[in-house]
Amino acid sequence: KFIGLDLGTSSLKAILVNDDQQILGEHAVPLSVTRPDRGWSEQDPQSWCDAAITALSALAANHDCSDVGGIGLAGHMHGATLVGHDDKVLRPCMLWNDTRSHAQAATMDGSPKFRDITGNIVFPGFTAPKVDWVRENEPEIFAKIAKILLPKDYLRLFLTGEHVSEMSDAAGTSWLDTGKRDWSDDLLAACHLTRDQMPRLVEGSAESGRLRADIAAQTGLPQAIVAGGAGDNAAAAIGAGVVKDGTAFVSLGTSGVLFAANNGYRPDPATAVHTFCHAVPDTWHQMGVILAATDALEWLSRLTGQSAAQLTGDLGQLQAPSKTLFLPYLGGERTPHNDANMRGQFLHLDHATDAKAAARAVLEGVTYAFADCQTALAATGTTIKAALAMGGGTKSQYWLDLIATTLNIQLHLPEAGDFGAALGAARLGMMAATDAGPDIATMPPIATTIDPNTALHAAFSEGHARYRTAYTALKDL
Ligand code: XUL
Repeated sequence: KFIGLDLGTSSLKAILVNDDQQILGEHAVPLSVTRPDRGWSEQDPQSWCDAAITALSALAANHDCSDVGGIGLAGHMHGATLVGHDDKVLRPCMLWNDTRSHAQAATMDGSPKFRDITGNIVFPGFTAPKVDWVRENEPEIFAKIAKILLPKDYLRLFLTGEHVSEMSDAAGTSWLDTGKRDWSDDLLAACHLTRDQMPRLVEGSAESGRLRADIAAQTGLPQAIVAGGAGDNAAAAIGAGVVKDGTAFVSLGTSGVLFAANNGYRPDPATAVHTFCHAVPDTWHQMGVILAATDALEWLSRLTGQSAAQLTGDLGQLQAPSKTLFLPYLGGERTPHNDANMRGQFLHLDHATDAKAAARAVLEGVTYAFADCQTALAATGTTIKAALAMGGGTKSQYWLDLIATTLNIQLHLPEAGDFGAALGAARLGMMAATDAGPDIATMPPIATTIDPNTALHAAFSEGHARYRTAYTALKDL
């Protein structure tokens, strides 16, 4: 058997699968985010360790876990977890959606070598500018940094005692030579850091260590092999069988991702597309990332006091685009704007704009943001004709119809529950602990395929153009 652990932003999920990859059990533990200041977003790394113990213990209490051979880790990317020589954390982890370091990011991005070596813009959410913010604002903490770990790699340190990262998550730091799959000494030096402060690198499907004896005893698990694992998006792709060139998924989670697998390294930083290593050797992937997907709906839900399900529950059949426009840039945006300072907009409000109409505009606005990602990917030569649809937002049929129609692509909705990144992590655990290769990462059975509504596509293209015009008109206001 194998376990996949997915450290998400809002919960940690553990799943248990058998050798045929059937899901035998799952356990999720909620996590919270603190926002102590504008643009800040932090989590206490201890909460990840506590959640992992709870989730692993629950699996072991309810299932026979004596033959668990491999564990894979997935996690939210880009977070800066700083530890001292005693492996204790030096400050709360600054998360992927923390944009306080936009000035540091802009300075780094101004030096061409970051884009040349990493294949990516230095986004404020990435790890390197955050650590530079610490250097400038908390020098006493910077001076104590012995290792810089991504969130799931800190969890790995807790579980195995090893300082290890893997290629897919490391590619989101701004310190990796993404084509060579190795840390760049040049970029580390530019950030006043050295390779000693970085974890050792393995491929996601390779062994990184074993569960520590005390953790094994505490949770009731054997001392299983722990795989390198992956950043949550690459892990979700492994879970969804998106490994071969040309396959794709769209993820409607807290953030939104339009992800395409590539058989080669095809960077194009000017598009604000992310080009990262995939979680299995010799593969890469590209993605457009929008910072608020279901997060935008959650915001409206807090504002109106109605749950996301209430807001989107009775929208009925897909209608022509609303006149009300919503720009979902609640915490800035990555693809295609790379702008940490811009904020959301609600335009063309009317006496008749009620909560339901506002919800429809929010779904449309996030959909237009995905259309922007599709355009950015197309500029790199990556065209998407069909994609698997994943994440909490797929509960809304209206949203799925909107995305299929606006992007003019087929969406495939998997049959079984949404195990995405946790299943990908379990699969990587299986690859590390057995002789299984990447071909075990098959696509899930599809429950429904959503076709674009051809009668409405042109109207949504116009809606998208109007959305672009609104962005251009308002960005400097
Ligand atoms: C990807 C990104 C997010 C996080 C959150 O670049 O920042 O998708 O991984 O889960």
